[in-house]
Amino acid sequence: MSASVNEPASARLRIEACESSKRAAQDALRARGLEPPMELTARDEDVVIASAAWLRSDVRLLEFDHALHEAQDRGGPCTFAVVGEGDALLRTVVGVALRYQRLWPRRNVQAGDVDFDLVLRAHRALHALEKPLVRADYEHALDVWQWTVALSPEASRAVQVAALFHDIERLASEADVRIEQNAPDYSTFKVDHARRGADMTRAVLASIAEPALVERVCALVARHERPDADPELALLNDADALSFFALNSAGFFAYYGPEHTAMKVDYTWKRITSERARRALEDVRLERFIGEALDRVRAQPRP
Ligand SMILES: [Fe+2]
Ligand SMILES: [Fe+2]
Repeated sequence: MSASVNEPASARLRIEACESSKRAAQDALRARGLEPPMELTARDEDVVIASAAWLRSDVRLLEFDHALHEAQDRGGPCTFAVVGEGDALLRTVVGVALRYQRLWPRRNVQAGDVDFDLVLRAHRALHALEKPLVRADYEHALDVWQWTVALSPEASRAVQVAALFHDIERLASEADVRIEQNAPDYSTFKVDHARRGADMTRAVLASIAEPALVERVCALVARHERPDADPELALLNDADALSFFALNSAGFFAYYGPEHTAMKVDYTWKRITSERARRALEDVRLERFIGEALDRVRAQPRP
């Protein structure tokens, strides 16, 4: 594992709790393959997250994101200070470490070399982070990358690169305003988005990656909205769906409102193919509307 090469500020985690609560929380992180760099010293700029605030039934997750973005935009290091005790602390630490997993990325052997750094830099260079929707897409791309490794620690280089680039088409169609809610047919819209994304991916990777890798990545991007028997495609789909719930659903609800979000929750839950991905959702902090919509769709019999 190594630090991200492409974040404006490196982030750390500080746990304010008694020794036994702290140890239990750190064990829970390790069990999930999460290894945020730890910070011991409190600073005024810390993004403080009390477990009582994180676990509130009416939690607004975007407020924590906003505090992170402010710290990143100041250009300095960012430390999340998580405060609590016992089980509440543990759930908060795991939830925070997962929501912001892109800041302490898992780098397996397939993604641990300088050539992968090159891909990360090329991907980062495409994103004008001052645009809020582009920033959200950039964070989603890193988050999907991380979910592929979380679900499959041996994830191939191709599926990790595909995770980074899978939604790159949005830079062309939805950088300033979202349009998916206007699509006459949601599935057709998503399939077109995937196909065009593969063409854009090829254009970026052609000069920095091996042809065989480029072909495999583009094949995965082109089909990422339609899982089939290909296990890597299923992995990418599960990672994408988890990232929607874990990272993007709060912003999606704020942008689109309840009706379109309820449809999206239904669509995304049904995309998940593996029991492992369904279980991973248990650790994810969801806002109330999303949690209730998810409970409703979970209660339906699976086709
Ligand atoms: Fe997509
Ligand atoms: Fe996506």
